[in-house]
Amino acid sequence: MSKLENKIAVITGAASGIGLACAKRYVQEGATVVGIDRQACDDWQAITDHAPGSCLHQADVTDSRELKSIVDSSIVELGAVDVLLTAAGIGDGGPVNMLDEDAWDRVIDINLKGTYLSIKAVIDQMISQRSGSIITVASVEGINGTEGGSAYNASKGGVVLLSKNVAIDYGRLGIRCNTICPGFIETPLFDSVMDAMPDFKADIKKQIKLGRFGRAEEIAGAACFLASDDASYMTGQSLVVDGGYTAGHSHGIVELMGLV
Ligand SMILES: NC(=O)c1ccc[n+]([C@@H]2O[C@H](COP(=O)([O-])OP(=O)(O)OC[C@H]3O[C@@H](n4cnc5c(N)ncnc54)[C@H](O)[C@@H]3O)[C@@H](O)[C@H]2O)c1
Repeated sequence: MSKLENKIAVITGAASGIGLACAKRYVQEGATVVGIDRQACDDWQAITDHAPGSCLHQADVTDSRELKSIVDSSIVELGAVDVLLTAAGIGDGGPVNMLDEDAWDRVIDINLKGTYLSIKAVIDQMISQRSGSIITVASVEGINGTEGGSAYNASKGGVVLLSKNVAIDYGRLGIRCNTICPGFIETPLFDSVMDAMPDFKADIKKQIKLGRFGRAEEIAGAACFLASDDASYMTGQSLVVDGGYTAGHSHGIVELMGLV
């Protein structure tokens, strides 16, 4: 049997990168997906064709009324919300003295408050069902600081702890909440940040133990596991999927010792 047979999933940020890859994987595994994103996406026709009932709604995750109305009408149509995956997010930051207040607000509003509002939009339904799996998308930059990370680090660190809080508050009601912390994954967001800093890109790659950047489908694999009953005893955890970037430093010592 497919891993997500008959499950209803809400995915934010579903028009691009990680959210889109998760939507594709979820429908392959038998789920119906309610996608939410502020932009449209041509790939969604194939998703809807594969899984009728699935569709992409254009909305902003900082708009609580819009979010709630999409979720509520989906519940009327589909009957439940089994999974929420929050992948909508943006990157921005800079040293505090160089970061203006509007940029700080934008990052916190979308990455952190948008996650809170998305959870708020589904949680009453999950409470009434006495079941649900919430998967938030933070980052390795939500666990460790990054040079110039400021607003982004703060937003993703907030997502990590908000998710643990949700796991604590709702676990006895059958609701699980876990976070995925991706490393450096090739998506339009990654390209927009890295294209501006080619030297930085090469330096990061050197520190990835598997020697390459990740693919959005590799995050979708983790997101599929966390949504599925295979993860039925897992809650309050941060699952790092980063090719070994945060495993520790390597300095070429084993190569010197002759390891090929
Ligand atoms: N790509 C990476 O290397 C990486 C690493 C760690 C964490 N992440 C996180 O993964 C998530 C997905 O990133 P991605 O790389 O797939 O980026 P992406 O830009 O490809 O996709 C993000 C999607 O979110 C949507 N979005 C942004 N703001 C929104 C809003 N206010 N309302 C609704 N939709 C909105 C965008 O329209 C876009 O479709 C983000 O939260 C990002 O911070 C990405």
